[in-house]
Amino acid sequence: MGKTLVEAVSQAPDCLLHGALARSGSEALGQAAAPGVFISDDMLATLSGADVLIDFTRVDASLQHLALCERLGVNLVLGTTGFDAEQKRRIAEAGKTIGVVFSPNMSVGVNLSFALLDMAARVLNTGYDVEIIEAHHRHKVDAPSGTALRMGEVVAQALGRDLAECAVYGREGYTGERDAQTIGFATVRGGDIIGEHTVMFAGLGERVEISHKASSRMTFAQGALRAARFLTNSGTGFFDMQDVLGLRL
Ligand SMILES: NC(=O)c1ccc[n+]([C@@H]2O[C@H](COP(=O)([O-])OP(=O)(O)OC[C@H]3O[C@@H](n4cnc5c(N)ncnc54)[C@H](OP(=O)(O)O)[C@@H]3O)[C@@H](O)[C@H]2O)c1
Repeated sequence: MGKTLVEAVSQAPDCLLHGALARSGSEALGQAAAPGVFISDDMLATLSGADVLIDFTRVDASLQHLALCERLGVNLVLGTTGFDAEQKRRIAEAGKTIGVVFSPNMSVGVNLSFALLDMAARVLNTGYDVEIIEAHHRHKVDAPSGTALRMGEVVAQALGRDLAECAVYGREGYTGERDAQTIGFATVRGGDIIGEHTVMFAGLGERVEISHKASSRMTFAQGALRAARFLTNSGTGFFDMQDVLGLRL
């Protein structure tokens, strides 16, 4: 995502690449990310004077970056996934000091899907079993994907359920019959699949499926840029892509 983000920022006439960061020891250090912009591991120097950090890295790294952004008053677009509930609370808290857009999936299409899922769940609220299937490339380290979990949260909320209590993550062996109150998750990992999600509402005699398939990582980068632009006018606060796209349910 780092390379795709640099490409997206470099192509955007209204954005300026202030710096590019990699972890200490990375082979990328010292290379030019763009003309005159060299990849560094010096967070403090690189972030000083920047308007916004776009961070798609790893959980531990992102939490360190978050603290530094608060200290320096730099807004944050956070795309990293895999945070636990306590870490998510910590990220939300940063919205008191800086502007934060946090979304497990910055694609416009996926965020539209969240709104469609809310509508579907409210209409198909009884007699339909909800199953969420996601597929990603072989390098992805967390499962189910942050997007699949968010889809589950949207559906659970619309149905008046708590995802933490009704989620079933994978099935094996003698499972017994399906409990109608559950929301099931299935994960596929392989090859270079960029990101595919399907939410299935399976009833008697019909099935509604809402699917999103990403074919380029540029969709996430373009969404992150929209989030960065949004933060330049939003002031402090904790936001997600529903806010950025005006889709808040
Ligand atoms: N929100 C969205 O729309 C969206 C879309 C795509 C991906 N994601 C999420 O974004 C994250 C990154 O995805 P990816 O596919 O780009 O993964 P990736 O290829 O593994 O990239 C992660 C990058 O973060 C770097 N990194 C690790 N620690 C760092 C540190 N302390 N400082 C700076 N850089 C550090 C890694 O460097 P090394 O390789 O040198 O270790 C690596 O280049 C994942 O959590 C993924 O799920 C979100």
